[in-house]
Formats: sequence, structure tokens, C-alpha cells
Amino acid sequence: MSTGVGSLSAEERQSYRAAGEALRTVLDEAAEMVEPGVTQLEVAEHAERRIDELADGTAFPVNISVDDEASHATPGRDGDREFGADLVCLDVGVHVDGYIADAATTVDLRESPDDRLVEAAEAALDAAVDEVAAGVDAGDVGAAIEETIEDYGHTPVLNLSGHGVDRYDAHTDPGIPNRAVDRGARLEAGDVVAIEPFATTGRGKVGEGSLTEIYSLEQERSVRDRTARQVMAQVTEQYRTLPFAARWFDQSRAEMAVRRLEQQGVLHGYPVLKETTGGLVSQAEHTMIVTEDGCEVTTA
Ligand code: CO
Repeated sequence: MSTGVGSLSAEERQSYRAAGEALRTVLDEAAEMVEPGVTQLEVAEHAERRIDELADGTAFPVNISVDDEASHATPGRDGDREFGADLVCLDVGVHVDGYIADAATTVDLRESPDDRLVEAAEAALDAAVDEVAAGVDAGDVGAAIEETIEDYGHTPVLNLSGHGVDRYDAHTDPGIPNRAVDRGARLEAGDVVAIEPFATTGRGKVGEGSLTEIYSLEQERSVRDRTARQVMAQVTEQYRTLPFAARWFDQSRAEMAVRRLEQQGVLHGYPVLKETTGGLVSQAEHTMIVTEDGCEVTTA
């Protein structure tokens, strides 16, 4: 029986919509807070508290990327870094019963910039959403993103891409490239995808920076150290396989255990990703359910 949304049940669809609705509220509130003099930690903690109030939890820590940072940046425990005349990307993930919404927006605090970098990413996202439908090649979605960003005189970040989401899985197939590729994944009705164009003034490539504040469970294993055992209990009960922030642990001792567990291969760390030529990076993102004749954006 064709319902137009493939294999998703009505309940699953409802959960995706509820996650998207909660996310919209939180992302708007967070964007509103981003102003010179406010700290990154204040914005992240407000957003994460609101996610806990409005949904079942975060799908990943609130990402706050400034200037040449593109992804995987979240404030540390002492995140007293204040916003200045920055280009600020906010990327937020919410889940309801494990069903995920993922969206991002860019706040430009620079004084009268004329590079239309924010519009480039937003227009690329609009073009991608117009392209999405069952049967469409993800490479064609990437082509729409690339062309749009280049029309604005900028470059897409080529080695970051959109992605599918699944229950308790914030990052899965199909990949949605930010450029034309010959043969991408074929989108299917019922796929839930997060499309996220990044536009940059640089060459269009990100590499790993030196800071890591975000982790997820890599391989469950019994650990001897008592603090590490407590950390593992919190991870497996509260976050499962979803990414979490080192600062979410009560004391610095636990945070040290997190870093040790990464070295042991129990946790996976996500270093901050930065544009390798120091270019400024803007981002726009929505999550959507692919349908036979288009898509339903859950985070609008
Ligand atoms: Co995102």
C-alpha cells in the first residue's frame, strides 16, 4: 500500500514532526540570543535546557561554530568565549522517542558585510528542498546546492555533506553531497534526510582542528576505573549512540575519564572542523521526510 511516505508509520511521522516543531522553537530562541557580549556557553545551555523541556532530549550537543569553524564545535565547561563581530552558525539536534530533527541557521554579527554569505547557504538549501523527491539522485541535489552557492560568488564546503537520520542515529545513509556527483544515492519515499549546505569564502575544504568537545559511544566495553564506569553508565542510559558533550559530566574528573575513554577506543571523539584556508563559513539546514512527489520539511 502506498501512503506516499514509504516505510514510515503514522506514529513515526508524528514523532519526526514533534521533534521538528520543538527544534524550530529552540533554534529561533537561540538565534535571538546570539549577540556581542553574550557567551557561547549561555546560548548552548539555554538551548539544551529548552530541548529537554520541549522534547525527549538532544540528538547531539548544540553546535556553535564561529567564522572558519564549520562543525563539531560546542563550548567547553569554561566556555566563556563571548560573541563579537562574528559569523555564527548554530546547529541543533532534537529527538522525540529517538526520532531526530536536525537544523541549522547562521547569525551574522559582522558590521555591514556585503558578501551575502548567509543568503548563499539559505538559497542553496531552498534549491535542494525543491529538488528532493522519491527517485531523485542525491547527486542532483548536490548539483543544485553547488550551482546556487557559486551563483553567489562563493564555494560550497565540498567535504561536508547532508545525511540521513534514523531512530537514535543522527548520521546515516543516504549522504547528500554539497556538490554535483556522478551517481549519488537514489532517494526513497520515507527516507528522512538532513540537508546542510555550507558556503565559504575559502577554498571549500574542512580539516580537523585541535579541540574536541563532542563524543559518542564507539564500542561498549567493561572498564575498571570507577569514574569511567559511571561515565559509561550515563552514556549508555542517557545518550545511547547519540553524540554528547564532555561538559555534560558533573565534575572535571568525569570529563577526564571521557577523554581517557576516547584514547582507549571506547568513545569516539569529533574534533572541531575548520575551513583549511581560514575562509568564513555559513550554514543552513533542514530535516525532511522524502515523499513520492517532494518532501515534508519537519523543521520549517
Ligand atoms: Co545539523
